[in-house]
Amino acid sequence: FAFTPANQKWAEAQITKYPEGRQASAIIPLLWRAQEQEGWLSRPAIEHVSEMLGMAYIRGLEVATFYFMFQLQPVGSVAHIQVCGTTSCMICGAEDLMAVCKERIAPNAHELSADGKFSWEEVECLGSCANAPMAQIGKDYYEDLTAEGFGKLLDELAAGKVPVPGPQNGRYASEPL
Ligand code: FES
Repeated sequence: FAFTPANQKWAEAQITKYPEGRQASAIIPLLWRAQEQEGWLSRPAIEHVSEMLGMAYIRGLEVATFYFMFQLQPVGSVAHIQVCGTTSCMICGAEDLMAVCKERIAPNAHELSADGKFSWEEVECLGSCANAPMAQIGKDYYEDLTAEGFGKLLDELAAGKVPVPGPQNGRYASEPL
């Protein structure tokens, strides 16, 4: 693994923001940039970032495995879908969304679909409980989902479109129900 020249320059600039001896504090932004570059975090990417920060690989791995925003396996080329499975979403239908993922993408989380375009996982609360159930696709939230509507989102993504994020039933949490 190597950062692109632009990313390498950016990473070096991040490191200078921290006092001498505290360079390890830059671990999260550097891991995030590596993931944005490659789509996921391979062992060589974590090793590279750890080495840049003077950390042992195991310390970098500890951080990468702690946060579910970091992907340690290859993700779908079109989308990696994170379905919230915490209480509000679970009560409101997260199981139905995950059933769609299992049927349409792959039986198990973190597996690629047969065409390599999609992957999925269950994640903890994403802070959008008022609009449960919801899923994060890329950097966007898709809320107030139904299994049927979720399936249509996958159809749109497969067709190369970017579905409109936000509440899928048109409501916003700030509006009276
Ligand atoms: Fe799903 Fe909070 S429980 S967003």
